[in-house]
Amino acid sequence: MTSFATVAAADCEQVLIVRDRAAGAVAVVAVHDTTLGPAHGGIRRHRYPDLGAAVGDALLLAQAMTWKCALADVPAGGGKAVLLDADGLDRAAGYRLVGRTVERLGGVFLTGPDVGTTAADLAEVAGTTRHVATGDGAGDLAGATAAGVFAAMEALATRLGRGLPGLHVVVQGLGAVGLPLCERLHAAGARVTAADPDPVRAARAADRCGARIVPPEQVLAVPCDVFAPCALGGVLTTAVAAALPARGVCGAANNVFAEPAAAVRLHARGVLAVPDFVANAGALIQGALWHLRGERVGPERLARIGVTAGELLDRAAREDVPPSELALRLARARVARAPAVP
Ligand code: NAI
Repeated sequence: MTSFATVAAADCEQVLIVRDRAAGAVAVVAVHDTTLGPAHGGIRRHRYPDLGAAVGDALLLAQAMTWKCALADVPAGGGKAVLLDADGLDRAAGYRLVGRTVERLGGVFLTGPDVGTTAADLAEVAGTTRHVATGDGAGDLAGATAAGVFAAMEALATRLGRGLPGLHVVVQGLGAVGLPLCERLHAAGARVTAADPDPVRAARAADRCGARIVPPEQVLAVPCDVFAPCALGGVLTTAVAAALPARGVCGAANNVFAEPAAAVRLHARGVLAVPDFVANAGALIQGALWHLRGERVGPERLARIGVTAGELLDRAAREDVPPSELALRLARARVARAPAVP
């Protein structure tokens, strides 16, 4: 988990820590940057070791949303809400607390789903704020994320001198994004190995995609062409990066590198890693363009994620820098160049 030192560096515009004592609920709402437009980011419900870890996670996730918007060419900024899961939490009241906090921000932050948040939870949020995307009009957002990761994976496969047929992909996490990603890969002729602690989800992937299922604790040790992290972030520590038996990395999990040195290590080993905030921008593109402009994005807009990923990998190779470092540099430059929204 993140320390407060990282938090200080994250440089957010607003951070609110709110509490509803009767409900046993504590939430963190972070607005990182609104230079390009109103902040967008979902609500994560997670059990953190302490409040500091929750704040750190919220800030890093909000920051990643800013960079994601910048590189996806979406006129929006980065934000995130985190509801601390705990024994005795009145879940519905916790989500209403998040909603009231978002409402107080008056529209600079539009929230929506993230890990741990269901449609029923979002209905509670929608009872207390207008500034929430419940997914109704925007369509299948997780499906859009899977489509974007798939497009990025195709671009990566080309850079590995391969196509998707026969490509061996290890998918970590078979949830809202991981399973549809497996389905797309299977349909394209890729070979899928997958892991999820939930046996029902694992069985579904085996049935629908012919996936070979491995125990979650073994997933980082399976030799493959591409490792696709689609569970939680922080999976790639420097030690893992030094040993990961893959030629490429491309997945949906946010903040997949536990530390910058891990990205450097992978790059030094010649492992091509598509930056997470490039590969997983599908939901943001589809959700934000719907809510900002009423625009329905088609598959070609999501497929542009593959173009961006490919260009990044090529330029990173030419400049001999980790792709995540290059992506961060480009995103920061785009935000710095933009005129401030009045
Ligand atoms: P989800 O909660 O639906 O699925 C996550 C899955 O990972 C669950 O099935 C869980 O059992 C599994 N899991 C947890 N620990 C694991 C482990 N150690 N090994 C293997 N599997 C494990 O979440 P969702 O929506 O599929 O998102 C996945 C990741 O992608 C998250 O990091 C999320 O922040 C990120 N993401 C999701 C987007 C979306 O549109 N849903 C958009 C952008 C990023």
